[in-house]
Amino acid sequence: MAKVLVTGGTGFIGSHTVVELQNVGFEVIIVDNLSNSNIDVLNGIEKITGIRPAFENIDCVDYVSMDRMFDKYNDIDAIIHFAAFKAVGESVEKPLLYYRNNLISLVNLLQLMPIHKVKNIVFSSSCTVYGQPDILPVTEEAPIKIALSPYGNTKQIGEEIIRDTIHSNPCYQSIILRYFNPIGAHASAEIGELPNGVPNNLLPFVTQTAIGLRKQLQVFGNDYNTPDGSCIRDYIHVVDLAKAHVIAVQRMLNEKTTSRVETFNLGTGVGLSVLEIIENFEKVTGVKVPYRIVDRREGDIEKVWADPTYANDVLGWSANETVEETLRSAWAWELNLAQRAQAE
Ligand code: UFG
Repeated sequence: MAKVLVTGGTGFIGSHTVVELQNVGFEVIIVDNLSNSNIDVLNGIEKITGIRPAFENIDCVDYVSMDRMFDKYNDIDAIIHFAAFKAVGESVEKPLLYYRNNLISLVNLLQLMPIHKVKNIVFSSSCTVYGQPDILPVTEEAPIKIALSPYGNTKQIGEEIIRDTIHSNPCYQSIILRYFNPIGAHASAEIGELPNGVPNNLLPFVTQTAIGLRKQLQVFGNDYNTPDGSCIRDYIHVVDLAKAHVIAVQRMLNEKTTSRVETFNLGTGVGLSVLEIIENFEKVTGVKVPYRIVDRREGDIEKVWADPTYANDVLGWSANETVEETLRSAWAWELNLAQRAQAE
């Protein structure tokens, strides 16, 4: 059984990926310092898959502890590197925190890989690297734009660090995955998105408003150059996204890659506006989301959605879940969280 190290494996995308990896028989080791997640996620993963993954509470910035961890699980076949900070606004206020955490953790992993004979790494990147694309839908060939935040910059620099490292040493190969906007939760509602404090992202704010934890959703701007004036994004079900990671790992282990660094967009190919998301959410759940239009949020991109053709053709992967099902799953998760809170 091949062994996969998943850094950030108790986080939102990480936990769903661990489930999909275990579902197809991979042995998983999670490294996470729980800075933005909860140890209870392991219970959810175990409930769904019947397997409790190995877990190490380690900060990937800590080289010595990571070195020991690689010694302990000595024949790791591939790494999926999710562990990173991801709040755009916070990254503007605390850039060094972001550069330190997101970049040093990656450099540590790349340094440790040849020492511990690990060849393969999947890197979590983001559509943020495209900025506001000139042509939509956006393909992998679109130019990389100057990052609008230190967070976005860590993704661009992270990609460059990987490309330079691989260029310098034939011992590595990598698949870089550029995510569009992941939302939703596992169908079991045992795992989902669990933001600390006030959510930054749209969907958790929508579900928390719908359940009454927040009074009102703020829609950031309705004067954009889009049909209804609100921003457009490509919202992808987190389980669809998770499955792409399994395919990426299998592709590297089965030596199907055509170059030592491959880059893929992971999106649905469909753009939806903020107002369309609210409307769809209300339709599928029957619950009203009180909202008001406020000023634009600084740094927001007007519209972006993926051309996922390359991932469809080369990985044989596509996003299957409908937006209705995705929104329903996010709501089921929020209801489950509320039940848990009541039981406590
Ligand atoms: N939005 C609102 N109200 C909110 C939150 C968001 O109207 O309370 C709008 C935003 O203005 C944007 C859309 O909803 O138009 C989506 O916003 P998100 O914050 O959910 O996500 P972003 O598109 O801003 O994506 C950013 C980065 C990604 C990163 C992601 C998750 O660009 O790289 O945040 O942190 F992965």
